Amino acid sequence: TSILVLNGPNLNLLGTRQPEIYGHTTLADVEEMCVAHGKTHGIDVTCAQSNHEGALVTHIHEARGKHAGIVLNAGAYTHTSIALMDAIKGTEMPTVEMHLSNVHARESFRHTSFIAPVAIGVIAGFGVNSYKLAIDALLGFLETRP
Ligand code: DQA
Repeated sequence: TSILVLNGPNLNLLGTRQPEIYGHTTLADVEEMCVAHGKTHGIDVTCAQSNHEGALVTHIHEARGKHAGIVLNAGAYTHTSIALMDAIKGTEMPTVEMHLSNVHARESFRHTSFIAPVAIGVIAGFGVNSYKLAIDALLGFLETRP
């Protein structure tokens, strides 16, 4: 099995961006952690990041047939992107929405998600551990799916 961990806009700044909210771990560290976590489950984890909405749409399209599912931290596009919602719906890729921060404890514009209605479920608020929890949730879903 292989899964895609896809990060959206500004997540390339992890480690230096508002560390009081997002922590000190860099994106490279997060990606390494995700690959290592996948290995403990015997699965391949591919990581990708883009600041561009259309590039993220293309990543979702290209995941079809290549990966069993997606862990998606769409960053601010979570709250705005009908295109990402349509890509997940259109490809029927099993997707876990995730966030480092607890978006529901923050500004009200972060309480809306265009991804959540088409996602298997949502993980938010556990810092970098959210990635591991989202991988586990996705694998659990894939294992028990009829
Ligand atoms: C985020 C939360 C979003 O609201 C924000 O725009 C981000 C990061 C998170 O991981 O906590 O860029 O997705």
